Amino acid sequence: MSLIDILDLSTDELYALMDTAKDIIKNPAEYSERCRGKKLATLFYEPSTRTRLSFEAAMLDLGGSVIGFSDAASSSVSKGESVADTARIVSGYADIIAMRHPKEGAPFVAARAASIPVINAGDGGHCHPTQTLADIFTIYRGRGRLTDITVGFCGDLKYGRTVHSLIAALSRYEGIRVVLISPTELSLPDYVKEEYLDKKGIIYSERRSLEGAVSELDVLYMTRIQQERFDSREEYERLKDSYTLTPETLLPAKKDMMILHPLPRLNEISVEVDSDSRAMYFEQAKNGKFMRMALILKLLGDGSEAVGVKCAEAERIVKDRRCGNPRCITSTERGIEHMFKRCGDDANEYRCVYCEART
Ligand code: CP
Repeated sequence: MSLIDILDLSTDELYALMDTAKDIIKNPAEYSERCRGKKLATLFYEPSTRTRLSFEAAMLDLGGSVIGFSDAASSSVSKGESVADTARIVSGYADIIAMRHPKEGAPFVAARAASIPVINAGDGGHCHPTQTLADIFTIYRGRGRLTDITVGFCGDLKYGRTVHSLIAALSRYEGIRVVLISPTELSLPDYVKEEYLDKKGIIYSERRSLEGAVSELDVLYMTRIQQERFDSREEYERLKDSYTLTPETLLPAKKDMMILHPLPRLNEISVEVDSDSRAMYFEQAKNGKFMRMALILKLLGDGSEAVGVKCAEAERIVKDRRCGNPRCITSTERGIEHMFKRCGDDANEYRCVYCEART
């Protein structure tokens, strides 16, 4: 009953959410009372414009109400309250939680402690499944299909959580080809390559140049270099202007190539591109609200099946070892059960269940 990872939703469930979102766009009045009496709690431990406000607008447009915080400093988190305790407490005040947290795996911890559905609204550099709902809906509306498309991901593929979730989602469709465009230092994490590209037999290539790849693409997914995830200020300064999409860069691109970006952008897309008919990023942000409305309805059980919590409880293994990723929620949360799942064929290789880092 929570959405922690985009793969918590089957492809059929994704199509059903898109059908609901389309119907909401067509008949908004029919949905305006569906969540009357229900409360959404937005627990945002990190800044956000689109995700938090679109979740709040989604709940208000469904007739529900919203409580929460947009700054951990204004909550008892600043006194050291754990994610699990916060989720337990909020379960007594609200009907559904949307949580953003800088630590990877934090929403999963919340989902295990809460007695109400928890939605992952972005956890560190790990994943961002509801952004993927907006991305998938935008691609589907634009191209009329999710199959047989070449998608280029450009920028910070290491820390860009939206990239990880969208690749996971796309890996389930036929005929997907992926072009990964990044500096070496910001390459896609191994676990994403192994789980969603290698295992699924997706054809992909890794490039350093956007100019050399743009003509091949049906969708170009630009991303911001994620300053807040860097350990070294110098490295960020060196890499921050790796790519800028301009009208000139677009000259060899297909006439119907879609340009997406989860936003916010810095200078990786010049403002001159905004008036290009292929620029879909503002539409993409708007689509996010309708998909979040559809998701809230689903998770609150508006006549549809409950969604399972990520992470295959059945295959988890509790080990007397620790995850070595300093960005993992296990590095700060007290009383946590350290869990791993086996990865690859090697019996001694494990991946942390919370952040998916190899240990
Ligand atoms: N795309 C996205 O997550 O934007 P915010 O950080 O503004 O929520």
